Amino acid sequence: MSRDIPKFLSAAWEAANAAGEFIRENWQQPGTIDYKGAIDLVTSVDRDAERKIVDVLRRDFPDHAILAEEATDIPGKTNEYRWIIDPLDGTTNFAHGYPHVGISIALEQNEQVILGLVYDPLRRECFRAVKGQGATLNGAPVRTSAVNELDKALLATGFPYDSRDNAGCYLAFFKAFLIRCQGIRRAGSAALDLCYVASGRVDGFWELKLNPWDVAAGALIVAEAGGSLSDFSGKPFSIRGSETLASNGVIHDEMIGVTNSLANEPSI
Ligand code: IPD
Ligand code: CA
Ligand code: CA
Repeated sequence: MSRDIPKFLSAAWEAANAAGEFIRENWQQPGTIDYKGAIDLVTSVDRDAERKIVDVLRRDFPDHAILAEEATDIPGKTNEYRWIIDPLDGTTNFAHGYPHVGISIALEQNEQVILGLVYDPLRRECFRAVKGQGATLNGAPVRTSAVNELDKALLATGFPYDSRDNAGCYLAFFKAFLIRCQGIRRAGSAALDLCYVASGRVDGFWELKLNPWDVAAGALIVAEAGGSLSDFSGKPFSIRGSETLASNGVIHDEMIGVTNSLANEPSI
């Protein structure tokens, strides 16, 4: 593990804190809103928050690669290190003044995520993990829940931006879980959904078609909090894959049973 971890952590926090202050200052003032797709928004606050994060990381690590959602794909000198950033996870929430957004910053070393930080600037909650060193919330260790059956589980999910075209598929998964668990939340930030799995606020999460910047930090935080991650059929999870299934570990097989049961559905 790199001896530079403390430097990486302090830069990631400086960057997230700068973006968080900016998001708070601009709360209820989303600036200009553009459309990347029919319901996929981007505001000037997303772009400016990204610039603030990238400026800090470029200043401290000019050789590192950076992949950020809105406008940044900078190759590194060696590509050993790559920062993966979602400057505002929950843009639809932000644009509507629904108070639930996150900032997600992860660092890969040779394509392995070694550090993840997700900051909720409104609740001032900072979830953090370093590979092999556990996960924390504002400095205190967090663990996944002990709920041991899907029947008693609270789950979280989200819908990709092509939901108007693929509603049948997404609703099939939603229905299959709805009739087996205790409740489902759709809060609008995949990065925070994963952190809520990590901290035991929900017991499991599933979503299709997330991007590396949505999941890179949150997935490490789940793993370091003792949870499990996979694709929908139980194969190893990849931040560049199209299926995210995360849980407290205990109900993971039951969740895979549900997603597997839909494998031959005509609407999927
Ligand atoms: C979105 C959020 C949402 C999820 C979408 C994501 P954005 O990210 O994480 O919860 O359901 O699939 O794209 O666009 O707000 O950064
Ligand atoms: Ca996102
Ligand atoms: Ca975003």
